Amino acid sequence: MKLLLFLISLFHIVQVSVGAKVNPLPAPRNTTWLDSNSIEINVPALTLRLNRPNDVLEDAFIRIKGSIESVKWYPAATEGPMSSMQPFPTATNLKKRLLRRQIGGISTVDVNVDDFNADLQLGVNETYTIDVSSSGITINAATVWAALDAFTTFQQLIIYENNQFSIEGSVSIWDSPLFGHRGLLIDTGRNFISLAKIYEQVDLMSLSKLNALHIHFEDTASWPLFIEAFPEMTNDAYSPREIYQPGDLVNLIIYAKNRGVRIIPEIDAPAHARAGWQQIDPSLIACGNSWWSNDVYTFATGNEPPPGQLDILYNKTYDVLDTIYQELGTIFTDNFYHIGGDEINGNCYNFSSRIQEWFAENSTRTYNDLTQYYLDTAIPIFEQNNPNRKLIMWEDMVLNNNTVPKDRVVLQSWNGAQYIPQLVKEGYDVIVSSSDHFYLDCGYGGWITNDPRYLDIPANEDFNNGNGGSWCNPYKTWQRIYDYDFTANLTDAEAQHVLGAEVALWSEQVDSTVITQKIWPRAAALAESTWSGNRDPDTGYLRTTELTQRIFNFREYLVALGYDASPLVPKYCIVNPHSCDFYKNQTILDEFGLQQT
Ligand SMILES: *[C@@H]1O[C@H](CO)[C@@H](O)[C@H](O)[C@H]1NC(C)=O
Ligand SMILES: *[C@@H]1O[C@H](CO)[C@@H](O)[C@H](O)[C@H]1NC(C)=O
Ligand SMILES: *[C@@H]1O[C@H](CO)[C@@H](O)[C@H](O)[C@H]1NC(C)=O
Ligand SMILES: *[C@@H]1O[C@H](CO)[C@@H](O)[C@H](O)[C@H]1NC(C)=O
Ligand SMILES: *[C@@H]1O[C@H](CO)[C@@H](O)[C@H](O)[C@H]1NC(C)=O
Ligand SMILES: *[C@@H]1O[C@H](CO)[C@@H](O)[C@H](O)[C@H]1NC(C)=O
Ligand SMILES: *[C@@H]1O[C@H](CO)[C@@H](O)[C@H](O)[C@H]1NC(C)=O
Ligand SMILES: *[C@@H]1O[C@H](CO)[C@@H](O)[C@H](O)[C@H]1NC(C)=O
Repeated sequence: MKLLLFLISLFHIVQVSVGAKVNPLPAPRNTTWLDSNSIEINVPALTLRLNRPNDVLEDAFIRIKGSIESVKWYPAATEGPMSSMQPFPTATNLKKRLLRRQIGGISTVDVNVDDFNADLQLGVNETYTIDVSSSGITINAATVWAALDAFTTFQQLIIYENNQFSIEGSVSIWDSPLFGHRGLLIDTGRNFISLAKIYEQVDLMSLSKLNALHIHFEDTASWPLFIEAFPEMTNDAYSPREIYQPGDLVNLIIYAKNRGVRIIPEIDAPAHARAGWQQIDPSLIACGNSWWSNDVYTFATGNEPPPGQLDILYNKTYDVLDTIYQELGTIFTDNFYHIGGDEINGNCYNFSSRIQEWFAENSTRTYNDLTQYYLDTAIPIFEQNNPNRKLIMWEDMVLNNNTVPKDRVVLQSWNGAQYIPQLVKEGYDVIVSSSDHFYLDCGYGGWITNDPRYLDIPANEDFNNGNGGSWCNPYKTWQRIYDYDFTANLTDAEAQHVLGAEVALWSEQVDSTVITQKIWPRAAALAESTWSGNRDPDTGYLRTTELTQRIFNFREYLVALGYDASPLVPKYCIVNPHSCDFYKNQTILDEFGLQQT
């Protein structure tokens, strides 16, 4: 019997595939391979042994087990001999030892959660460990949500070769995110996004440990959200099929929570407001029927058609804001609610007689006084409804020198990387989604029609060789996203004010047909930079070159799971690691990288 076991073990060792290397994304903070004795996992029989029953984890375990079984994953992109690096420490170079193993493979995963009660909210403890050895698999997790994080790492550790599932060796992982807020913004106002595709984003976020889905639900163009207090608002949905019912939202929130993803709703105000509101009372909206006038820009009433803003001096504006918030506030469970606050256009208010009279009454009044009136009136309404919930606001009014309560409001920064230091130095908590690095909709050309700048004439050369109509050109590649050091130039104390980051896909040129390919796998670059960082913790060097095979592998994994994630390179570059690098010198980025800090 002993001899038989010995032979089985020997057989297994011979079968250890040279070059097979799992490479989970995001890279865990700390991975230590202890040996390279492949450990068989009996996936069909795999059971969860939890220190207390828990539906979220039991269901998640069944899901990941199903994925492992159906995909039969073998890493698509591994590091080859050209690489001078060890991106994910390999098991195969380590000393092989003969170990007694369970016949048929390991069939139990022990999961111990410290705190089953912690709610899924910003800052919840997501620390976990995974220990794999021939004697078993143990996951220790601070919370249920940390255990979900552990599961998505675990599922990426298992490979399938020679007709069996295995993990490449004994391994210890310690992991914990650098940032609590790791987000994705989608926009269901410019074009509708089906619930199925929103669910899909949640699935993909969870696989990459993104944990905050910010939904910009409506805009001037359409209002897809059914509000019981004002059912007429969805007269401005694009069609009866393009409406979210309250039950849809409740189900989405539960679905997302079960996958460790918070849903943060945004109802943008006072700008970006027209559809829906105008159905309640046309007087709520200023300039909603004006020509947006970017042809004669001095009269422009908005940055894109159609224009429209809430009338700041109409009292009913605040009653409606209050009622909508009260209703959504009972549906949404997150401790944060996004109140918009971006891109207020002064010209729009020339279409409000109330506002024009107000300015005429007192010639020293400025537009800042007007927007301050909005803030001073609106913020207390949100506050009274739910004193425990914080608000998120786009940074615009603060950049325009309005006063915003720092303890109540988190600012989301989109205008550019240069504003992060300014805002945190002023003491604001910040979520970073700088359009120069994190906007996924850039670089696709303009969408405004009837645009003579596309004529191929000499006068248009600059335009067509320049931004080509995309206001936030260029397209943000995964490398640009990953290389962005959004806490650069901050002291440690200032960096504490950065809660995290979001990539954003605005939907002027996006609907359900293309949303997944535009977000994935690029969002995975942010997933890693917000989870374990974009730099090697020991050297401080940018690890973009190291991410290369990992993100290629992750994309192939998503496709294997059935998601339409975009290809990043010719497949040649995946199967011939680093053959498509610009520089043969694999450490070339190190010095460039260090210049930034
Ligand atoms: C990573 O784990 C190894 C082995 O447990 C340990 O020696 C090392 O200190 C850990 N490093 C970090 C950064 O936690
Ligand atoms: C998070 O949980 C881990 C493991 O339970 C624990 O060691 C750590 O102190 C916790 N962190 C915080 C900030 O509570
Ligand atoms: C809007 O009104 C302001 C203040 O009255 C004025 O300065 C500005 O020129 C007006 N804009 C347009 C486009 O009429
Ligand atoms: C609007 O509200 C303000 C502040 O509460 C109040 O002074 C004013 O009389 C109200 N205006 C109307 C028309 O109700
Ligand atoms: C006119 O507006 C300015 C600026 O808001 C303010 O300081 C001043 O008190 C106002 N004057 C009157 C008479 O309301
Ligand atoms: C805000 O205030 C700063 C400092 O006083 C000034 O430099 C800047 O121009 C102001 N910005 C706006 C939009 O008024
Ligand atoms: C940090 O500061 C340097 C020098 O001012 C600047 O060039 C760089 O862009 C800044 N980095 C970020 C991410 O803001
Ligand atoms: C690779 O690039 C780094 C950074 O520029 C440089 O220090 C190093 O000497 C280069 N190595 C080789 C082999 O050229």
